[in-house]
Amino acid sequence: MYNVKKITDDLFWVGGNDRRLALFENVYPIPEGISYNSYVLMDEKTVLLDTADSAIMELFTENVKAVLNGRKLDYIIVNHMEPDHSASLMRIAELYPEARIVTSAKAKTMMGQFFDFDMDRVDVVKEGDTLTTGRHTLSFVAAPMVHWPEVIFTFDQTDGTLFSADAFGTFGALNGNLFADEVNFETEWLASARRYYTNIVGKYGPQVQKVLEKAGGLNIRRICPLHGPVWRENIGWFIDRYQHWATCTPEDKGVVIFVGSIYGHTQNAADVLASAIADEGVHNVKVYDVSVTDASYLLAEAFRASHLVFASATYNNEIFTNMEHFLMELKEHAFHSRTVAVMENGTWAPQSGKKIRAMLEEMKDMTVLDQTVTFKSAPKEAQRADILALAKAVADAVKAS
Ligand code: FEO
Repeated sequence: MYNVKKITDDLFWVGGNDRRLALFENVYPIPEGISYNSYVLMDEKTVLLDTADSAIMELFTENVKAVLNGRKLDYIIVNHMEPDHSASLMRIAELYPEARIVTSAKAKTMMGQFFDFDMDRVDVVKEGDTLTTGRHTLSFVAAPMVHWPEVIFTFDQTDGTLFSADAFGTFGALNGNLFADEVNFETEWLASARRYYTNIVGKYGPQVQKVLEKAGGLNIRRICPLHGPVWRENIGWFIDRYQHWATCTPEDKGVVIFVGSIYGHTQNAADVLASAIADEGVHNVKVYDVSVTDASYLLAEAFRASHLVFASATYNNEIFTNMEHFLMELKEHAFHSRTVAVMENGTWAPQSGKKIRAMLEEMKDMTVLDQTVTFKSAPKEAQRADILALAKAVADAVKAS
């Protein structure tokens, strides 16, 4: 049974949800599900903006048919070729053989790689090109690396609607309410939006900044992303979140302690450190076990907070495996500009502190506090003073920021 949502008198959401997929991109846990958004514009010419993942292909095609209500489809605009939005393109192209496919040059190349259909149907557009469909004039904005190189945004100049591809998307299935102003976005969705951005697009901050600058010149009244709620109110607030994430600027003044512990002794020291930082007057200190919490959540928390501590056991003469993996994730996502502290453990040859520092040095503008607390096997009472001193240094750095 079709399930569509009306956005304006002539614009409709025709997407769907997947609550069964365990790992988005076969990497990121999505216990809250995911939506694949697609839109139909019913003007003198009809336009489908992006398609959908194969998981919802049947529902998606039913939705498109329901909205078209017997009319032919004139255009299929492909803003992004990643299969979570293009896997149904072949099916739609076959169902509507007269539809012209409008996309970027790079996306056309990718179409040929993914599919086998008549490329003469594909019209290439570039930045600044327009398509008039009757009442609406659509213009195209290049958005390379947000999140793939072929990405374009489509801007409806008539109604001020920005079809923003993956940008402004979030993890999380839609639950009946399509609009961000209909849900408790800040308390129930923001963490998912941050985790989505930082993991999927986080590496491409400079490219996102460029696109945000271009978007600043548009009179945006509505944002229709490819995942998650549609924005029609308080758009500036969400763009401001994006500006923080794109520039890797902390959203919150606070401390997050990441712990890699084998038998619990490093965890013990980290908890003592967390208590001592809290005693110094720092609120909302958070502690995460890197072996328990998936790295995608850890990455999002690192982007959120101003000050970080890495407390790790030594393992195979290296950084404890899951901590090393997390640090690699930070580096690969071009994480930068934080004040951090290090705590290390090792029963016979503590190495993790030195190696963590070396990995942090590969990231831009990281300030590593001089003190490193080192202990062997288990923290002893004699080392409490060292931990308290590190806590004071971290708290002082937070207060001075
Ligand atoms: Fe939602 Fe880059 O695909």
